[in-house]
Amino acid sequence: MSSPDIFYWSSSSRNTERFVEKICANGMMGVRIGPSSRSQIIARPFVLITPTYGDHDGVGAVPKPVVRFLNDPQNRAHLVGVIGGGNRNFGAMFGFGAKVIAQKCEVPVLHRFELAGTPEDVDIVQNGLARFAPLQAPAPSEMALAV
Ligand SMILES: Cc1cc2nc3c(=O)[nH]c(=O)nc-3n(C[C@H](O)[C@H](O)[C@H](O)COP(=O)(O)O)c2cc1C
Repeated sequence: MSSPDIFYWSSSSRNTERFVEKICANGMMGVRIGPSSRSQIIARPFVLITPTYGDHDGVGAVPKPVVRFLNDPQNRAHLVGVIGGGNRNFGAMFGFGAKVIAQKCEVPVLHRFELAGTPEDVDIVQNGLARFAPLQAPAPSEMALAV
């Protein structure tokens, strides 16, 4: 199996999109989740990258387009892990949306990063995703990177 594709969502501030562009500089494919999930039914393993947009209690932490995308059972079935963007100013809620998705979809949080990510974040994610390649049926425990 080759590295999984990356599906991501990013607002108009584009922090997550810029992070994905850096991850994908080595040829990996990154696809933006659109406003409607109807045309995006995914039939192969993918990693989701999403920022958090919550209030202080974490309500609304997962952006609505991501919720719609994951409401499709086939998409959920092909999700192998989630990477969360955010800002450490939010304290315990840093990257909380990724934790919510991980719990609901029973996949690991592979990594969390601030804003558009540091070069170290890019290295961690690129190296981690490359480890998928020789694995035929990776178990979630084999895919954990760093949270
Ligand atoms: C209204 C609002 C709420 C946010 N809530 C959180 C939060 O709960 N936890 C967190 O880590 N970051 C939070 N953030 C920070 C964003 O996740 C962060 O800026 C991210 O990089 C935005 O990604 P984007 O530019 O791709 O949309 C929030 C930002 C805004 C504007």
